[in-house]
Amino acid sequence: MNISVICASLRKGSFNMMLARNLAALAPGDMRLTLLEYLELFPHYCADIAETPEIVTRWVDAIAAADGVIVVSPEYNHSVPGTLKNALDWISRDPGKPFAGKPVALQSASTGMLGGARMQYHLRQIMVFFDARLLNKPELFVSHAASRFSADGTLRDENTAGAVAAHLAAFRLFVRDHQPERPWGSN
Ligand code: FNR
Repeated sequence: MNISVICASLRKGSFNMMLARNLAALAPGDMRLTLLEYLELFPHYCADIAETPEIVTRWVDAIAAADGVIVVSPEYNHSVPGTLKNALDWISRDPGKPFAGKPVALQSASTGMLGGARMQYHLRQIMVFFDARLLNKPELFVSHAASRFSADGTLRDENTAGAVAAHLAAFRLFVRDHQPERPWGSN
């Protein structure tokens, strides 16, 4: 099972990137996670840009080929970071509509006490318009993120690691059960 992972923080030392990089160790054995890189290369969306930027094509192709997508994002001002929204706006203009029917799970880490919940509900709304299939439960919000990771980025908080593992296990079943056009395991 191939899962693309989008991390929406560009910051060195990002807690969301730490979370994204811990997923492989906590995922079920048959889940292969690939981080989509170079979010910073997306230009500001403008319909006047006639030629689709290479980074857009690269992400569109990766999402289209994946069995599912996990988005790991910070919350900025109770919503989705502009960098992520910009990338999603680009991807939404692709005629192939790579998110349509795609199983998607949302994760967030925040230094605050709500763990990025408000961002997730805005992102969920955007994903509904994309016709993505969103994992509803369990939800994963990593609150007080600064206290959950070691200096080397390892997720050291056991409760959080358990919640991440449970989230990934649930997403695995969800992905398996939501591949209408390309049943998982049949090709
Ligand atoms: C934040 N932060 C934040 N946190 C939160 O829980 N709710 C919020 O609305 C916001 N708003 C916000 C806006 C902006 C512009 C910044 C830079 C930060 C704090 C945020 O959770 C914290 O900086 C995280 O560490 C950001 O994630 P990364 O970069 O560590 O992955």
